[in-house]
Amino acid sequence: MWAARPLQNWKVRPGDDTTDDAALQLDERLLPMTNFPSEALRVSEPIGEPTDVLGAWHAGEPPPAVQVDSSRDAFAIAAARFRERVHVLRDRTTGDLGVSFDDSGPWSLEASHALIASLPPVYPEWLGSAAFLQTHGVRFPYVTGAMAHGIATRRLVVAMARAESLAFFGAAGLAPDDVEANVVGIEGDLEGTGAAWGSDLIHTPHDPSIEEKLVDIYLARGVRRVSASAFMRLTPAVVRYACTGLTLARDGSVHRTNHLFSKLSRSEMAQLFMSPAPAEILAALVDRGALTPAEAELAARVPVAEDITFEADSGGHTDNRPLTAMLPTLIALREEIQAKYGYHQSPRIGAAGGIGSPSAVAAAFALGAAYVMTGSVNQSTVEAGTSDLAKEMLAGAEPTDVAMCPSPDMFEMGVKVQVLKRGTLFASRSTLLRELYRVHAGLEEIPSETVARIEREIFQRPLADVWTETRDYFASRMPGEVERAERDPKHKMALVFRWYIGLGSHWAIAGVPERKLDYQIWCGPAMGAFNRWVRGSFLANLQHRTVVQVALNLLEGAAVFTRAQQLRSFGLPVPDAAFQYSPRFLTS
Ligand SMILES: Cc1cc2nc3c(=O)[nH]c(=O)nc-3n(C[C@H](O)[C@H](O)[C@H](O)COP(=O)(O)O)c2cc1C
Repeated sequence: MWAARPLQNWKVRPGDDTTDDAALQLDERLLPMTNFPSEALRVSEPIGEPTDVLGAWHAGEPPPAVQVDSSRDAFAIAAARFRERVHVLRDRTTGDLGVSFDDSGPWSLEASHALIASLPPVYPEWLGSAAFLQTHGVRFPYVTGAMAHGIATRRLVVAMARAESLAFFGAAGLAPDDVEANVVGIEGDLEGTGAAWGSDLIHTPHDPSIEEKLVDIYLARGVRRVSASAFMRLTPAVVRYACTGLTLARDGSVHRTNHLFSKLSRSEMAQLFMSPAPAEILAALVDRGALTPAEAELAARVPVAEDITFEADSGGHTDNRPLTAMLPTLIALREEIQAKYGYHQSPRIGAAGGIGSPSAVAAAFALGAAYVMTGSVNQSTVEAGTSDLAKEMLAGAEPTDVAMCPSPDMFEMGVKVQVLKRGTLFASRSTLLRELYRVHAGLEEIPSETVARIEREIFQRPLADVWTETRDYFASRMPGEVERAERDPKHKMALVFRWYIGLGSHWAIAGVPERKLDYQIWCGPAMGAFNRWVRGSFLANLQHRTVVQVALNLLEGAAVFTRAQQLRSFGLPVPDAAFQYSPRFLTS
């Protein structure tokens, strides 16, 4: 019985709920986070219509009578005011349902109203894994993913880090010196803040020395978080990064100096990254003095990566897998692996791909994601390192305005990337080139009318000129490629076609106006979902679309959806309006 609970035990401070055992456990889990300034996340304009039940009360006056809002909007208001405890009451005479934000309501109105439910506050900070926040020292379970060629810029990473969220620098496709300059710059910008951030390590099977060089830089420069992406196997470089600096903590657990995130879309890879590093790779690293025997020994007790980001249908490289089918599968796999190894800290599974609206964020957390990662939507932000023209094109996309086409880095293997389709012909043109490559043994085999067409429409110059330029480019960097192409006509065709496919992203980043139809803009359906959501709001204006406002609004909206769904799960008639959240300027 509610009335039996002594009032003085009713503590309303967030994170200090003692109303039941589950809440108590939650409290312990969240204890280190109670200092988080959750309440300080302010909204500059009111959410929803104010209710008329909550008047100001001044000492000395008789306390106002508790009232119940049983208007049509009551549950939508309860969803919008998710940071407050809310009580759902039913009028014993009329049967009307209503809400009260007054904690004395359930008792003082007991004679007239039955208590249907009391919902604790919801905080965006608490939608994901508390262990994720604690491990990385961040406030939000929200990560912005790496975007190649520095599209995820130093500025973007620093902005997110200052907002107490994690971001990965877009190192892929940049020269190691360039990556080093950027990570040194980020470290300098954040000096003294202790803010967490990371950088990308993309798998380079054709040249393992690139991975090794990047790991050298990350270890030398103290980059404490690295996102390993597109890996098809474990390499010595990725294992070296993960295991360098493993030490034994006082409580017997293994302390990590470096935190490896692994982004993947297949169970086989998840299995590898969630297991301890293979003994043979560790032994070889010890033999060459890259790991100490003690580090190798401790590596047997921890997964290679403690944070596994499952990437569903996303921008850029993607297997187009559905989040709803794959995330539960990976979570089940994690349980099996955890049961097998009994890790002190079991791997956390985050969700990426297709997340561009608050409901998608809420859905990912409802599926059990420890954190969410966004990508496409961040490419249109102020801080993203791409052209204004590309950002404008992104801002006009619908969810279906995307297409798969050949990837620049793995063209010959037939690997694909997801790009923006609207406003550019890159997807169809590059697909045509890939098809010509597949069916012909060399450029000479392609019918002359087709050659004339692609020279006119795609390359805008003779293929002979493209080859000269390509040959000169490779001669100084990778002369072996030129030798091979001169021996093998198919390889020459690949290099010529890759000229166009490689330049597509550079034209987009630089905003070359006369090449607009050839822009290769990596983008997933999340972008279109985002555009729909922000329509008519301040975030529709690209000048206002900062990466932090995008993050805070997605999380804020996800908390509204979570509260609305909680209300609905009590069997309450929650109106559609409760499942709506329009972006607004937020300060943290
Ligand atoms: C422009 C762009 C470039 C990307 N480059 C990389 C990259 O270099 N490395 C990587 O791990 N992921 C890369 N991604 C993937 C993102 O980090 C993120 O995982 C993905 O975009 C999330 O899915 P979404 O696009 O549906 O939000 C890229 C995505 C975009 C849109």
